[in-house]
Amino acid sequence: MLIRPSQIPILPKEPTSSVPEYSSNKQPVHVSPIVFKGDIKEAIKKKLELAALNEKLGQDDCFYVLDLGQLYRQHLKWKRCLPRIKPYYAVQCNPDIKIIKYLATLGLDFDCITGPEMKKVMDLGIDASRIYYAHTCKQASYLRFAADHSVKTMTFDNVDELYKIKALSPNAQLLLRIITDDSKAQWGTGNKFGASLSAVESLLKIAKKLALDVIGVSFDVGSGCSDTSSYQVALENSRKVFDQAKNLGFDFHLLDINGDGFLGIDQPGKPSFRQLAANISKTLDSLFTPDVQVMAETGRFYTASTLTVCCQIVGRKMLPTQNENDVYRNYMYFVNDGLHGSFAPRLLYQDVLNLKVLMKDNVCMYRKTVKEPTYPCSVWGHTCEPGDCLTENTRLPLLTAGDWIYAENMGAYTIANSHFCGFQRPKTVYVDTYRNL
Ligand SMILES: Cc1ncc(COP(=O)(O)O)c(C=O)c1O
Repeated sequence: MLIRPSQIPILPKEPTSSVPEYSSNKQPVHVSPIVFKGDIKEAIKKKLELAALNEKLGQDDCFYVLDLGQLYRQHLKWKRCLPRIKPYYAVQCNPDIKIIKYLATLGLDFDCITGPEMKKVMDLGIDASRIYYAHTCKQASYLRFAADHSVKTMTFDNVDELYKIKALSPNAQLLLRIITDDSKAQWGTGNKFGASLSAVESLLKIAKKLALDVIGVSFDVGSGCSDTSSYQVALENSRKVFDQAKNLGFDFHLLDINGDGFLGIDQPGKPSFRQLAANISKTLDSLFTPDVQVMAETGRFYTASTLTVCCQIVGRKMLPTQNENDVYRNYMYFVNDGLHGSFAPRLLYQDVLNLKVLMKDNVCMYRKTVKEPTYPCSVWGHTCEPGDCLTENTRLPLLTAGDWIYAENMGAYTIANSHFCGFQRPKTVYVDTYRNL
C-alpha cells in the first residue's frame, strides 16, 4: 500500500534553533531540526560559501548532504516491490538520528546489534517492541539491557547462546539463523554467522528443553547478492526448518530474509531490485502461507543513495616526470576525509566510488559536465596512515588546494566511522528533495 502525500512526515522547512524532539520516556534527544529549503545544489553552495570564509576552526571540513526525500523514495519503492516484507532498518548502516526518526515515522522497525544502538533508538521515543536484536553472539550486558527494556525478538545460531539467553533473557522470542549459500554475495557472512541445517534439530531440541520460545528462522544470502537462486534455496531451506520445528512442537510464524542483499542502487548487468523483489515475492508466496510474517533487516537499500560526501583538497603533490613539459604527469591529491572516516573499506569494497569535481576556481561544479582535460591522479585520505588512499588511480581535471570534490551514494557505512587522528565526524546538511520536485 502506498503512503499518501498527506502521510509523509512533516519536516520543518525553515532553519530554527536546536530544540529537543520526540518526547521520550528517558532523556530527550537534542536534534537540530534544520532541513534545507532548497535543493542539493543550493545547500552545497551555501555550505561552500561558508567554507570559503574559513574563519572558524573546521569551517572548511568535509561535510555531508543528506537527502531525506530520497529516503522516502526508497521507502515507496520497497512498499511497491516487497509489500509482504516488513523492513527493519539496520541502524549500524547509518545511525543518523534524523534518518532513524524519519523511518520510524514511515513505520519501519529497527535492527540493532548492540546495547548502545538499542538505547539510541529507544531514546528517540521508539518503543522497544519495534527493536530486533540481530546479533547471534550477544554481549551479556547488552542482553541484560534488552531484557530489562523488553526488547524481546532476537537471533541465535548456537547452543551456548541458548544457555546465555535462558540465563539473562528467558522471555525472549528467538529466530534461528541458518547458514545459506552466500557465495554469490559481494560480502558473505556465512563463515561467521548461522547454524548449519544439520545442527537445526539438536538446537531446537535444546531450546525446547530450556523452555525457550523459538518463533522463526533468519537467513542471510550476503551483502550485495542479486542472485535469485540464492534466495530461492534459502527460502526452501527455511521452509524445511519451519516443518522440522512444527514436528518438534514449535509454532513458527516469523521469517527474516535479512535483506542486506539489496544495494539500493541497481548495478549494470545484474537483476534490478524490482526483478529480485518479484522473484522473492513469488517464491515466498509459494512456500509460506499469509499467516507467516516476513521481515528483512535492511540498511543500505534505504540510505546508500541519500548521502553525498563533499571534501576539500587540502594539498597536492606532483610526481616527478622525465619530461619537464609533460602535462600528463601524475598528481597526488590529499583530501580532508579518508578510509578512517567516510570512505570506509567496506564501502569501497562495493566498488561504488566515483569522485567528481565539486568546486574548482570558486565555481560550483555540482552535477556539471567538466569540459576540461582530465589527468591521471591518486586521492589520499586525511590521516597519517600510509594505506589511507581513496583511490590510487583515477582521472580528475587539474585541481589545487582549496578546490572541492564529492562522491554520491555514500549513505551506507560512512558516518559511523572513527575519530582516528582527532578528525571529527563531518557535519550534515539535510535536504528534502521530495518536496521540491
Ligand atoms: C545482522 C545484519 N543485519 C542487517 C545488515 C544490513 O545490511 P545492509 O546495510 O547491507 O542492508 C547487516 C549488515 O552487515 C547485518 O550484519
